[in-house]
Amino acid sequence: MYAKSILSTAAIIAMVQALPAPQVSGYTDADWPISRTESSVEGIATSFPSEPVSQISAIFTLPPKGTEPGAAPTRVASIQTGPTSHGPYEGTPTTTGAVKAPATLAASIAPLPPNPTHTYYNPNGSLLHPAPAPYTPAGGLGTNGTEPRYMVNSDFDYESITLGLYQEWIELDLFLNGLAVFSEEDFLREGLTAEDRHLIEYMAIQESGHATLLSNMLGHTAPKQCTYNYPWTTVREFVDFNQKLTKWGESGVLGFLAHLDSREVANLLSQSITVESRQQIVFRQMTGVFAMPEWFETGIPQSWAWTYLAPYISSCPANNTRLAWQNFPALQIVNQPNVNRLSPNNTADGEVVGNRVADPSDSTIPEEESCVHVNVTGYSCGPAITRNKTEPLSFPGRVVRFTWEAPGMAVGPNNSYITETKAGAPAFVAWVSQLNLTYTPLTLTGNDSGWSYQPPNEVYEGDPAVNGTMFVALTDSDPYLTPFNLSMINPHVVALGLYQAG
Ligand SMILES: *[C@@H]1O[C@H](CO)[C@@H](O)[C@H](O)[C@H]1NC(C)=O
Ligand SMILES: *[C@@H]1O[C@H](CO)[C@@H](O)[C@H](O)[C@H]1NC(C)=O
Ligand SMILES: *[C@@H]1O[C@H](CO)[C@@H](O)[C@H](O)[C@H]1NC(C)=O
Ligand SMILES: *[C@@H]1O[C@H](CO)[C@@H](O)[C@H](O)[C@H]1NC(C)=O
Ligand SMILES: *[C@@H]1O[C@H](CO)[C@@H](O)[C@H](O)[C@H]1NC(C)=O
Ligand SMILES: *[C@@H]1O[C@H](CO)[C@@H](O)[C@H](O)[C@H]1NC(C)=O
Ligand SMILES: *[C@@H]1O[C@H](CO)[C@@H](O)[C@H](O)[C@H]1NC(C)=O
Ligand SMILES: *[C@@H]1O[C@H](CO)[C@@H](O)[C@H](O)[C@H]1NC(C)=O
Ligand SMILES: *[C@@H]1O[C@H](CO)[C@@H](O)[C@H](O)[C@H]1NC(C)=O
Ligand SMILES: *[C@@H]1O[C@H](CO)[C@@H](O)[C@H](O)[C@H]1NC(C)=O
Ligand SMILES: *[C@@H]1O[C@H](CO)[C@@H](O)[C@H](O)[C@H]1NC(C)=O
Repeated sequence: MYAKSILSTAAIIAMVQALPAPQVSGYTDADWPISRTESSVEGIATSFPSEPVSQISAIFTLPPKGTEPGAAPTRVASIQTGPTSHGPYEGTPTTTGAVKAPATLAASIAPLPPNPTHTYYNPNGSLLHPAPAPYTPAGGLGTNGTEPRYMVNSDFDYESITLGLYQEWIELDLFLNGLAVFSEEDFLREGLTAEDRHLIEYMAIQESGHATLLSNMLGHTAPKQCTYNYPWTTVREFVDFNQKLTKWGESGVLGFLAHLDSREVANLLSQSITVESRQQIVFRQMTGVFAMPEWFETGIPQSWAWTYLAPYISSCPANNTRLAWQNFPALQIVNQPNVNRLSPNNTADGEVVGNRVADPSDSTIPEEESCVHVNVTGYSCGPAITRNKTEPLSFPGRVVRFTWEAPGMAVGPNNSYITETKAGAPAFVAWVSQLNLTYTPLTLTGNDSGWSYQPPNEVYEGDPAVNGTMFVALTDSDPYLTPFNLSMINPHVVALGLYQAG
C-alpha cells in the first residue's frame, strides 16, 4: 500500500516540470518546487474494515452528564418537542399589533453629524496611546477587565434577540418537517441522498442549540416555539424555501449585530449566525444554484426580517412574548425567476407557489422545461457543490414587475400583527444587496402594480451588487443610506419583497 503512493524522484521532477503555465490567466511565475504531486488514481480501497484493525492509544472517556461536574447545560428543546401541528390559523386573535413602548418620542430618527469622538487616524503605524498591558494595544469595548454579562442590555437588544429566537424556532421545526413529510425516495429523486438528509437533520439540531443560547440571553420571558404554515409541496420547493429563509435569517442578524448594546451578546450571536450562513450555502447547493454569488452578505433592519418571517407563523402559545417590529405590506415580484427552469428567461408570471413574499419557485413545471434532472454542465440545477448556469436567473436591465398589498392586513402568529406603512406614494425600487442600496425609478401601471429594472451597479469593480437571494422595497423617496444606517429607510418603505437574482 505504502510503496504504491511513492513516486521516484525522477517522476516527481518530470511531473512538476510538466505543469503547463499559467493555469490561471494573468497569474504568472506561480511555479515553485512542490515536492508532492498527484499521481493517477489507482488502487482505490475495495475492502472496508467492519471492526477496527489499527487501534490507536486512547483512554475510555464520555462527556459528563446530569449532576456530574462539567456537564453541559440542557437545551430548551430536544429536537422532539412532542406532537406538532402545521397549517394556517383559523381562529380569532385575542390581541393585535406590535408591542409598544410606554412612549414614542418622534416619528423618525433625525440624522446627526458624525460622532465627534470618532476621529482616530493612524498616520504612520506607530501606536498613539499607552498600552494597558504587554501586547495589548489601547482601546476596544469590553477589554478593560469588566466581567462579561451575557444578557441583553436594552430594549433594542431584547427585541432583536427575541426576533432572532422566533427565527431559530421556525428553523428547528422547518428542517425536521421536510425530513418528516418527504421520504428518502422523494429526496433521492431530486438528487439528495440519505447523507444529505442526515446533514439537514444535523442542521435542525444546531437550531436547538441556538434557541437555547438566545433563550438564556433573554431570560424567563424568552418566547417558545410556535406552529407554522409552510408554502412548499415538493423537496425542491423545501430546499429553495430553506435557502430563502436562512438568507433573511442571516441578513436580519447582520443588520443589528453591530448595533447591540451588549457586546457579550454580540459575541455569542456572531458565533451562531456564522453557522446559519453555512446552512444558507448548503441549501443553495441543494437547490443547484451558484453557492455564493456575492462578496459580502447583506444586513437588513429587524422589521424587514420580521416582515419576511411572520407570514409563515400560524400561531404561538397563549402568552408568548410579542415583538415590537413593524410588518410591512407584501411586495410580490410577478416575474420572479424560477430556479427550476432550464431557461429562466422563460419563467411565466406568478411561477411561485403562493402569495407570501418568500414563497419558493414552483418546481412542478414540465420535465422538459426543468433543469433539475439535466446532466449537462451549464444547464443542470441538480444538487452540487456549485453550478455555473449558462443562462443566469436574472441580469442587469431585466424588467422586474411588481404588485403590492395595501396595508392593514392581518399577518403572523394568530393573525395578530397588522401590516403598516408610514410612507407616501411609491416612487422608487430600493435594491438591498451586499454592501449596497441602489434605487431605480418605479413606473406605475396601477395603484398597486408597476415595474422597474434590475440595476447594473457593482459593489467593487467586478462584483455585481444584485446577485443571489436579495431584498427589494418600494419607497417613497431615495435617501442615501449605508449599511450602518440602513434602518433609517423604514419610514420610506411602502412594501417589501424578496428577489431571486443570480
Ligand atoms: C506617528 O504619528 C504620531 C501622531 O501624529 C506622532 O505622535 C508620532 O511621533 C509619529 N511617530 C513616528 C515614528 O513618526
Ligand atoms: C470598562 O469599559 C466599559 C465599556 O466597555 C465602561 O463602561 C466601564 O466604565 C469601564 N470600567 C472602568 C473601570 O474603566
Ligand atoms: C407564560 O405562562 C407560563 C405559565 O403560566 C409562565 O410560566 C411563563 O412565565 C409565562 N411567560 C411569559 C412570557 O409571561
Ligand atoms: C394563538 O392561538 C393559539 C392556538 O389556538 C392559542 O393557544 C393562543 O392562545 C393564541 N394566542 C393569542 C395571542 O391569541
Ligand atoms: C435572456 O434574455 C436576455 C434579454 O433579452 C437576452 O440577452 C439573453 O440572450 C436571453 N437568454 C437566452 C438564453 O435566451
Ligand atoms: C452525467 O453524465 C456523465 C457523462 O455522460 C456521467 O459520467 C455521469 O455519471 C452522469 N452523472 C449523473 C449524476 O447521472
Ligand atoms: C461559467 O459560466 C460563464 C458564464 O456563462 C462562462 O463564461 C464560463 O465559461 C463558465 N465556466 C465553466 C467552467 O463552465
Ligand atoms: C451572479 O454571480 C454569478 C456567479 O459569480 C455570475 O456568473 C453572474 O454573472 C452574476 N450575475 C450577474 C447579474 O452579474
Ligand atoms: C388600489 O385600489 C383598489 C380599488 O380602489 C383598492 O381596493 C386597493 O386597496 C388599492 N391598493 C392599494 C395598494 O392602495
Ligand atoms: C456600493 O458599496 C460600496 C462599498 O460600500 C460603495 O463604495 C459604493 O459607493 C456603493 N454604491 C452605491 C451605488 O451605493
Ligand atoms: C447614512 O450614512 C451616510 C454615511 O455613510 C450618510 O452620508 C447619510 O447621510 C446617512 N443617512 C442619513 C439619513 O442619515
